[in-house]
Order: sequence, then structure tokens, then C-alpha cells
Amino acid sequence: MCGIVGYVGGREAAPIVLEGLSRLEYRGYDSAGIAVLDASGILTLARDVGKLSNLTSRLEGAYPPGCTGIGHTRWATHGGATELNAHPHVDTAGDVVVIHNGIVENHRELRDELVFAGAVFRSETDTEVIPHLIARELTIGLNLEEATRAALQRIQGAAAVLVMRRQEPDVLVAARIANAGGVVIGYGEGEMFVASDLPALAGHTRSVVFLDDGDMVRVTATGATYSRLSGEVLTREPQTVDLENTAIGKGVYEHYMAKEIAEQPEAVLDTLRGAAQFDPPAVFLPGLGLDDDAIASLSRVVVIGMGTSLNAAQVGRIYMEQLAGLPAETDNASEFRYRRPIIDGTSLVLAVAQSGETVDTLEAMHEAKRRGARVVAICNTPGSQATRIGDGTVFLRCGPEVAVASTKTFLGSITALYLLACYLGEKRGFLTGRRLGQALDDLARLPQLIGEALKSDAATLAVAERHYQSEHFLFLGRGPQFPVAMEGALKLKEVSYIHAEGYAAGEMKHGPIALIDAAMPVVAIAVKDDHYTKMLNNIDQVRAREGKVIAIATAGDTLLPEKAQDVIYVPEAPTLLQPLVTAVPLQMLAYHMARLRGCDIDQPRNLAKTVTVE
Ligand code: AGP
Repeated sequence: MCGIVGYVGGREAAPIVLEGLSRLEYRGYDSAGIAVLDASGILTLARDVGKLSNLTSRLEGAYPPGCTGIGHTRWATHGGATELNAHPHVDTAGDVVVIHNGIVENHRELRDELVFAGAVFRSETDTEVIPHLIARELTIGLNLEEATRAALQRIQGAAAVLVMRRQEPDVLVAARIANAGGVVIGYGEGEMFVASDLPALAGHTRSVVFLDDGDMVRVTATGATYSRLSGEVLTREPQTVDLENTAIGKGVYEHYMAKEIAEQPEAVLDTLRGAAQFDPPAVFLPGLGLDDDAIASLSRVVVIGMGTSLNAAQVGRIYMEQLAGLPAETDNASEFRYRRPIIDGTSLVLAVAQSGETVDTLEAMHEAKRRGARVVAICNTPGSQATRIGDGTVFLRCGPEVAVASTKTFLGSITALYLLACYLGEKRGFLTGRRLGQALDDLARLPQLIGEALKSDAATLAVAERHYQSEHFLFLGRGPQFPVAMEGALKLKEVSYIHAEGYAAGEMKHGPIALIDAAMPVVAIAVKDDHYTKMLNNIDQVRAREGKVIAIATAGDTLLPEKAQDVIYVPEAPTLLQPLVTAVPLQMLAYHMARLRGCDIDQPRNLAKTVTVE
């Protein structure tokens, strides 16, 4: 959730830390703060509420001096978005400085204990117990690394922490416990970096080490030493990562969301590249981590995820059934991990997570592994935790997604799930040569079809102009379009703050129909597939109650303009791949509505791109 950046080296730390934070702001934007130490141990702290720009404009031209610094963008969990609650936090004497991503679950009892011992708390955060705990350990003669280790052993919950101390001005200590989000160490020439995500390192280094759960690191300008929280010393060799696409801008677009919607044909093409071969038909998934025997032994698939990734998982379930011939189900990762799922070595759990850092999904993966299931991540982020927990990974290759509302990774995840279903289907003898060839030929047309769907932008804007003042929306779909209806509603909620619900259209008459009146626009995904006639029934039922229908229709449909007030056309596509086409105008609809309502599209209120707390 929160973004973390640290620097130690020969250059001024503040501009480097602030620049790194600007690339992580999508993780949280309730407040931001930095702390900088100079060689003589003078500490300067600067924090501000709201977006990072508030802090940067305040510091402009007067950066705090010093070559060691840490910074944080916050997504509030404990305590409101105030300056006092913004990170970094310090101990009573102002010697130990901490930034933190995660939740300290036992913070109340620790706070009581520390206050009793004389600690002065200045914020309402759970985080503030950490500098006080470290300070207490320092009083018995430990150094910063040792004191941090001792302090973190008292903490229950999730924590990625970055710490510095006035008396050790050339040292940073970082640690990661219990799936608190990533910590990556970047190696420069005579300088070192710490960050929660790779984008913060772009332009500085490609040589990195990712901390595992329970790892600690002591970083100076010349290198890093690694250990476990238990004290065991570790050897970690830096690996080289591809950061080429990481330093990204909005280009000609006003918002990242618009840019990322427009990038979708390319995102899907890149996901296919190297994985799908059309003649002769074949799928290559070298990172899958399942051999032929494991694939043959599978009895079922469970596809899990959260938010948009869960909606993609719902489409994936259909692929597993229809292309791989495997019984399949979906679940919210947050529910799956606690419902004592009945799975074993013949179960394949697919964890969909664009970031690869969503804590609910990571914990569900661990739970699946504990129960002996095969676990594969469907992920957009190389090096992320999800890619390291499972047996293997199928990557979507969408490039970094910056807008908090996911768009291109929804399509990328669905594409990756389709490839995987074809792969499993072929290996299991379910998808024979001719059917595999057809399935892949269908896929080959996809980037072009998505490009066609993008041409509905003007029509979508016109619809948005008619409806942007509505306060409620209903989205209906059947079969593969049901998850798209869910995703359309999710996108609208997220960026425009309009109340929206997605339903399986068959469900409409079992309750939601009571909501329909002249003030309730209903988006009906009524493309020409096996469910078309049933969708027409739904539309008639909405019209009979004076509801306003916005139909998503197949190009050339002449019936729907007679039934619906608004029609947005998409190109005809193979039924199983149609969700990747119909999702596009719904994303654009949400975008235009939000823009017309003056919303903060790329950083909607209360949300964060990567949710690393439960
Ligand atoms: C989607 O627009 C949201 N940002 C959110 O629902 C997101 O899909 C969810 O948090 C899951 O993220 P993940 O794919 O990184 O696991």
C-alpha cells in the first residue's frame, strides 16, 4: 500500500528520495514525508498531508541537506490522514526514524507498555511503536541493526520497515516480516537504494536483491549485508532486472488510465508474444513449473484474486472448463484463505494478481501450498512475491500499470488465463490439434479486435455526457459477460464514485429489478452470443419499468437501437474472447464519467494500487 524509498551514498538524498516516491505515489497518497540525515547526524524531517506534490512544492529549492534519506507515501490504516500521522515517525528523543508499510496488530499493548516506560507518542499510528521499541533496545548498547531485529521480534502483523538513526548516519536498516509488501535493495556505484517497488529504482540501477519474508538488511553506500530476523547471516547475490519500461510518463494522454486503456492491443500482443505459436499451433509457458505428469494428475482448478483480478479469474474459470476440460471454481483470495478449502496435490490454484503483492492473494497462495496444491501465479510484475511463492508463473506482459484503476492488466490476465487453459487442454488431450489451432487463431485476432473496440471512444463519451449526473448504475451480463458486468461496475465505482452494481442478468428479476426506475441507467452487455435472446428479455424488462438502457452491442446489430436508448458497438469476436472486447467501452465509460464529474481519475479517493494489508 504505502510507498517506501531510501538512499545512502554520495549525492544529496532528498531529491532522489522524492523522485523515487513520485514513481510510487500510486501506492498511497494520503500523505507523504521524508527524513534526511547529514554526516554530522543532523536530522531533518518534512511531512505533509495529501499528495506528494504538496510536500515537494513546500521543499522546492530548499531540500534538507544530507546524503542518507528515507521517504514514504501513505495509505492510512491507523489514524487519519494528518501531518502528525504521516511517516516518518521518530522515538521520543528524535534519534530513530522509521517508515513502515503494513499493520502492527499488537500496537495497542505495545503502546501501553512503552508509554508506561516513558515513551512520548506524537501520532495515532500503529507504526510509531516501532521507533520507540528500537530506541529502547538501543539503550542496552545494541547497534541499529541489532536493535531493529530485537524490536521486530515483538511485532505481530505485517511490516516492511526502513529505519535510520542519527548516531549512525551512513546506515539504513530494512526488514520485511509477514508478507508486508516488497522490499528491494538496489546496487549503484558508491550508492545504494531501498524501495518497496522497482519503479523507484528506474534510472539508478538494474542490479537488485529482493528481501524474502523474515529477511533483514543493513545498507551502506558501499553495499549490503543480509540476515534473517532470527540472526542467521545470509548471502544474497544481486540479480539484473529489466527496468526499461519502468520509467514511464503519460505521453500525450491527460491521465494514465486513458493511456493504459489505449495500450491494450499492445499489452495483449506482448502477453501472447513468445507464448502462442500459430502455425503449427502450440503454447509455450516455460515458467509454469508443472510437468506433464503434474498436469495429467490435475482434478480441478481454483482461480483466486481480488478486485479486477477476481473478475479476470471469473473469466478464467470459464476457460479452464471449456478449453482445459477441468472442473473450475473461483473465490476471493480473502475468503479462500480462511474457508479451509478442500484441496490437495491434484488441485491447481491459480492466483491472479497484477502487482503480485496483494496480501490476501499471497496468503491464499501460502494456504494452498500448505494444503499441498499446485500453485501458479498469473502476474504482471517480475520479481514480485507472487512469482516467488508459487510453483511457477504465467506472466502478463502489460508493462507497469500506474493508474490505480486496473485496465490493461484485466485484459492481460484474461489473455494469460486463456493461454494457460489452451496449454493445459492440449497437454491433457482435451484440446485436440484442430481445436487448439482454432482457439489460437481466435487469439491471434484479439489485438486487432481490441483496437476496433477502442474506436467506440466517441460514442462512449456521448453516452457519458448524457448520464454522468446519475448516482446509480446497474451492469448486466450473462455467461462470459457476467464478469465483464462486474468489472464495468467496479471501474465506474472506483473512478467516478457513482454507486454501481454488476449482476448476472438472470439475477435481475430476483431483487435488483426493484431498483429500476427512470433515474437508473442499466448497462446491458447484449452481444450476439448464446445469451443474446435472454439479454433482450432483460432489456425489455428494464424498459417496461422506465429504466434507461445502454446496450453494448455487436457491430451491425439493428434490433438493439429499437430497444435501448443508447447503443455502443463493439466488433464481433469469438464468444470466449468477447470479454476482452466488451470490457473496453466500459473502461472508457468509467473514464469519461469520472472526467466529466471532475474526479481524480488516476488516484481515486481511499484507494491504493497495491493492497498489502488485510
Ligand atoms: C482494480 O481497478 C483495483 N485497483 C483493485 O481491485 C485491484 O484489482 C485489486 O486490488 C487486486 O490487485 P492485484 O491484481 O495487484 O492483486
